[in-house]
Amino acid sequence: MTAPHALQAVKGMNDVLPAESAKWARVEAAYRRAMALHGFRELRTPIVEPTKLFVRAVGEATDIVEKEMYSFRHHDEELTLRPEGTAGAVRAYVEHGVHHQEPVSRWYYLGWMFRAEQPQRGRYRQFAQAGAEIFGDAGPGCDAETIALLVDFFHALGIPDLRVLVNSIGSGATRARFRSALHDFFVAKKSSLSEDSQRRLETNPLRILDSKDPRDRKACEGAPHIHEHLDDADKAHFDGLQKMLDALGVTYEIDPRLVRGLDYYTRTIFEIKGATQKLGAGDTLVGGGRYDNMVEELGGPKTPALGFAAGIERLLIASEPQGDEAIVDAFVAPIGSASQMHALVLARELRARGIAVEADTRGGSLKSLLRRANALGARVVLMLGEGELARGVVTLKDLAGHAQEEVPRADAVAIVADRLAASGAIRREDPA
Ligand code: HAM
Repeated sequence: MTAPHALQAVKGMNDVLPAESAKWARVEAAYRRAMALHGFRELRTPIVEPTKLFVRAVGEATDIVEKEMYSFRHHDEELTLRPEGTAGAVRAYVEHGVHHQEPVSRWYYLGWMFRAEQPQRGRYRQFAQAGAEIFGDAGPGCDAETIALLVDFFHALGIPDLRVLVNSIGSGATRARFRSALHDFFVAKKSSLSEDSQRRLETNPLRILDSKDPRDRKACEGAPHIHEHLDDADKAHFDGLQKMLDALGVTYEIDPRLVRGLDYYTRTIFEIKGATQKLGAGDTLVGGGRYDNMVEELGGPKTPALGFAAGIERLLIASEPQGDEAIVDAFVAPIGSASQMHALVLARELRARGIAVEADTRGGSLKSLLRRANALGARVVLMLGEGELARGVVTLKDLAGHAQEEVPRADAVAIVADRLAASGAIRREDPA
């Protein structure tokens, strides 16, 4: 229980305590591996960007820009905590003239994002995304391979009940035609729309299509179909995507109602849902798509682009990875204050061999030290008392096998290293 006046974290922004962060590290390591397998390299951009970047890139009439951004003024700068990673990635791509350096850039990122949404399971105000952006590849093969990559990654995490939803919203001209067809269709039914959708009618009628409000769902019956408005090049792209997904053996559904909440998309958009029993309505694990105009809109050359982002908290709920049980490999237990400094020296030698060690520095009974060693998951306890010091030995206790023996102090580190390596218990560099 928290004391009534104790300071608490901001609503919707959560601590990740060490027992949980081991699970985060596993998912992040699996993501880094999946990205490396596909030739992506890591991008790290600032958490704070100029507000106008998001207004321009994400779109003025989106929920994010209208009501979810954490924006503030600092002296004469208007700044925003990033609500998503694509705008910053494109800003960096243009700012550093990356198109001069390579024809195709494949970037991935892991990091905090901020949106002032109503918190619920799987939806937070500070959340982490694992995302990726590809610049310079216009073909549908790029879209298909990206979707397949995500399906493989989610399978590797053991996430059940995956559903891949894809749609095409066409390129600029198609979107404009579709937008005006939707506007004309909904204007006639304006009074039957929800208040939000009545407002969206003028600013962003596409968003009415994915409203969850029952009044809007009813009003959508018979609405124009995006696929009727695709031009030949859009259609060829969408057909190509489907053929390649078939060839890759990816099961998918075409969802003509899928529109996504950000304004920058062109042609392919997709979402993958999963583990609905655990996530409920917020079961969208990842969303993404093509945004072939953004690089140019932000001052770069015309460059096709595609990307996605997955919510890490949702991946954790969906996959329930095991935490790292063992915190250290070995525990050094000085018995009596005279052995303390010898214990510290021994612990340092063990760590130099790559063995994770906690050495007791608090003092206490042997029983309490062994309890601590067990709680840390140590395989071996190295006990050092006055008797051991006098005889030039260390007592090794194998916590798994319960055997106990004295070994020469000079050989202790090598013996422990060999035993841990032989039992496979030595800590790995890579937490996954
Ligand atoms: P998004 O659909 O806004 O797309 O977010 C992507 C994913 O981030 C969602 O599917 C969800 O898993 C997670 N997510 C979003 N909001 C929250 C939240 N409040 N709490 C927890 N998780 C959340 C984008 O952000 C685009 N930048 C994706 C993209 C990259 N498109 C092209 N490139």
